[in-house]
Formats: sequence, C-alpha cells, structure tokens
Amino acid sequence: MNNIFEHLVHWYSQNKRDLPWRNTREPYKIWISEIMLQQTRVVQVIDYYMTFLRYFPELKDLANADEKVLLKVWQGLGYYSRALNMKNAANSILSTWGGNFPENYEGIRSLKGIGDYTAAAIGSISFGLKYAAIDGNVKRVASRFYGIEAPIGSIKSQAQISSLLTHEIKRFDAGDFNQAIIELGALVCLPRNPKCEICPMHSGCFAFNMNAQTLLPNKPVKKVPKVRHIDFLFLSWKGSTWLQRRDYSSIWKGMYEFPNVELENENEKTNPVETFASMLENAENTTILDCFEVKHQLTHQTIFARFWHLSGKQSNIVSENVGYIKTSINNLPQFPVHRLMHKYLVQLGVENKKEKNKI
Ligand code: ADE
Repeated sequence: MNNIFEHLVHWYSQNKRDLPWRNTREPYKIWISEIMLQQTRVVQVIDYYMTFLRYFPELKDLANADEKVLLKVWQGLGYYSRALNMKNAANSILSTWGGNFPENYEGIRSLKGIGDYTAAAIGSISFGLKYAAIDGNVKRVASRFYGIEAPIGSIKSQAQISSLLTHEIKRFDAGDFNQAIIELGALVCLPRNPKCEICPMHSGCFAFNMNAQTLLPNKPVKKVPKVRHIDFLFLSWKGSTWLQRRDYSSIWKGMYEFPNVELENENEKTNPVETFASMLENAENTTILDCFEVKHQLTHQTIFARFWHLSGKQSNIVSENVGYIKTSINNLPQFPVHRLMHKYLVQLGVENKKEKNKI
C-alpha cells in the first residue's frame, strides 16, 4: 500500500461500526440517516432511524406523511425543520423526478434541506459520486493530517480541505472513502486525546509528527451563547388547556407549545398575569397555581424558561380565533412538542420520560 489513504480505507473495512444505514445504499435510507446525523450523535440516531423507517418505509410514505405524526416521530431529535424539509423534498422527488431519487450531485443538492456535505455524503454512498463530504469531524481529521493552519470554520480551510480530499477520493470507492474519514474522526481522531497510536494514518500525519494534536484544528474563539428568557402559559380550565404551533422560522418550527412571551431581558420579569395580559380576557380573574423553571442549554443559546400554571375561568380563556388550539390536558401527549415543553410535561406527569417511539 503506497498511498496512506489505502491504509485508512483498509482500516475502515476492518473496524467500521455495524450501523443500520451501512447495510444499504438505497438513497432514501442514506438520506434519512445523513439528515438525522447532522448535529446529532450516532448512538442517539440509531433508534430514531429504525422508527422512522417503520413509519415511513418508502419515499411516498414520507411525502404523504401527516405533519403532526412526522414531528412526533422526530420529537427529541431537535432541529425540527429538518423533518419538514424532508417531507418537502420527498414531494419534489415525486413531482420533479418521477419518484426516483436524483442520481447526480446538482439534483441531490437542489433538494430542500440538503447542503454540500449531505449531497456529497448521499451521492458518494448511494451512487459512487466522487465528492468529498466535509463536515466538522472531517475538517478536524484533515486539519491535523495536512497541518492546515487556517481557522476550522474559514472559507480558506474549507477550500484547502476540499481540494486535497477531492484529489484523493478519485481512486477509491467514494462512499467508503468518505465514511472512512468520518469513522476515523468518530473513533480515533477524537477532539481531545486522539488515539494516535492506533491511527492507520499516523505516519503521514502532520499533527502527529509535529506533536501538534492539541493545536490543530485551529479553532476561532467561541461565541458566548445567547441568553433568552421565555415565559410559557399553562392555562387550565376544566381539564382543558391551550396550545399554539410554532410556525415562524425557529429551531422549533412546527412543534406545539404553550402560548409564550419572550422577555427582552431578565429585568423585565414581571407578574405572569401582566406578561400574559394580551392573551387573556379579564386577566385579573386568573389564579397563579405554580411556576416551574427550566434551564435549557442549546449549542448557541441558553434558554431560561418559566412555565406558569394559571387557572382560568370561562370568561378569560385565551381567545381561540388567534390560532390557539384548545385541547384536553390528557391529550397533550398526542402533540409533537420540543424538549423544553417535554421537560415540563414530564414534570406535570402528563408525558413519560422516554421521549421517542411513543405515538
Ligand atoms: N456522521 C455523518 N454521516 C455518518 C455516517 N454515514 N456514518 C456515521 N456517522 C456519520
């Protein structure tokens, strides 16, 4: 073996994890796995992937999926627009591509929710297209191996890595090549304490040879997460409550939640009856029963949420003609909800702790 990437691909054939999407090249299934794997860890994805395929075994099942069921299947994975974009793309495949997954890079890349990385991953694994799939883990491996100094998120480092790997991928099965680097990043070339002693590429690795593993990749200074304060209104009246559906652009797009108000800053925290006054009629007739505080940490934001349990009267229920949905409290588990809501519903004893597979 005179090319070090041959060592890598051989290592992959011997050491790859037996993951459910590795027994197939069907583009529909590879697509689902790659979308789920964006921003989500492999161990978490496995169950969701199996459940998703049970509910939507074929492309047409996803295209025709009921949005509420789709989001319930996705509940707990986060970044819910991924699921909505997939349904949208499944419909485009039916209408524009006669139901056949596009087999060229531009066609795949044109689908909603598919960027450069995902198009390269699907194209290479399903159709052998020679495109390097470059995500955060691949960038780490390549930055160390080639000794790339440009900051990891920069256009310059992306261009360098893309050009180097695009050159190498040509002589390999492209799907195996891409997954071999992904696997090396997941099992060996770890962010902290990489296992260089067992790495099939160490003899040619810049960082290993220069003892610079901790210096590469060169990471820009991390942004401080944005802090948000949101007050939620759990208004109960005769066993019923009210929900709204988040339809504006957000990581929670499409999910159901209690009506809420985002506070400009912490100092604005006031009496909930005042906070929710615009949602209630005769707000002064409500009684505050409880307040549950949750801190929710996301990658780029820290959310301090308060769930106010207010007891209403018929005269002051939230108005139904502005998009609020009345439901019996017992029926709340039927609605797809984001993690923050889920935490509160578990606390209330309305929803079980286990988040998935429970439609
Ligand atoms: N992360 C992104 N794509 C992956 C894949 N195909 N296998 C394992 N982890 C991944």
